[in-house]
Amino acid sequence: MHALIYLSNISQPLDKDDVIEIATKASIKNKRIGVTGFLSSRGSKFIQYLEGESETINELIETITNDPRHDIQHTIHLRNQPHRHFANWSMRLITTDDESRVLPDDTLISVIQDIAKSNYEPAIVDAQIYTIINRISRILYMPRYDNKNRTI
Ligand SMILES: Cc1cc2nc3c(=O)[nH]c(=O)nc-3n(C[C@H](O)[C@H](O)[C@H](O)COP(=O)(O)O)c2cc1C
Repeated sequence: MHALIYLSNISQPLDKDDVIEIATKASIKNKRIGVTGFLSSRGSKFIQYLEGESETINELIETITNDPRHDIQHTIHLRNQPHRHFANWSMRLITTDDESRVLPDDTLISVIQDIAKSNYEPAIVDAQIYTIINRISRILYMPRYDNKNRTI
């Protein structure tokens, strides 16, 4: 298992529907090629996490890198992952709604930027990203807390 996370700058105006379309198409193709993960967009940035077979992920990231809709700034590869974090999602779109339950985007962005710029040991990088991804996936798998139906 190979995983990667990248940060990119959106290079042309994209509205909510465009992002939904990217995620929907991605999800269909990813299902076919055995890739899972999440896509998050806020403001002018995308964060995407992909997991799958090494060769598949490397081919896919080349295609995504050449996509004119964004410019990838930082990519962090995580090799030999023990398992998938997003086994049920061929491409989970994280919306602003989810983000209030998940790690704030800004924190994740600064962690990725910091890791990409610094010269950390690969094992430390793996461990840090693993922890973040694990936390995000656990929160997303939790049942949604419905404020309207509060009983206590
Ligand atoms: C931010 C972003 C994320 C993307 N993620 C995926 C993805 O996870 N899987 C995928 O197949 N295509 C993804 N794409 C689309 C690819 O860049 C490319 O358009 C698509 O894979 C082409 O598929 P095709 O060769 O079958 O036409 C993404 C595009 C953008 C801009």
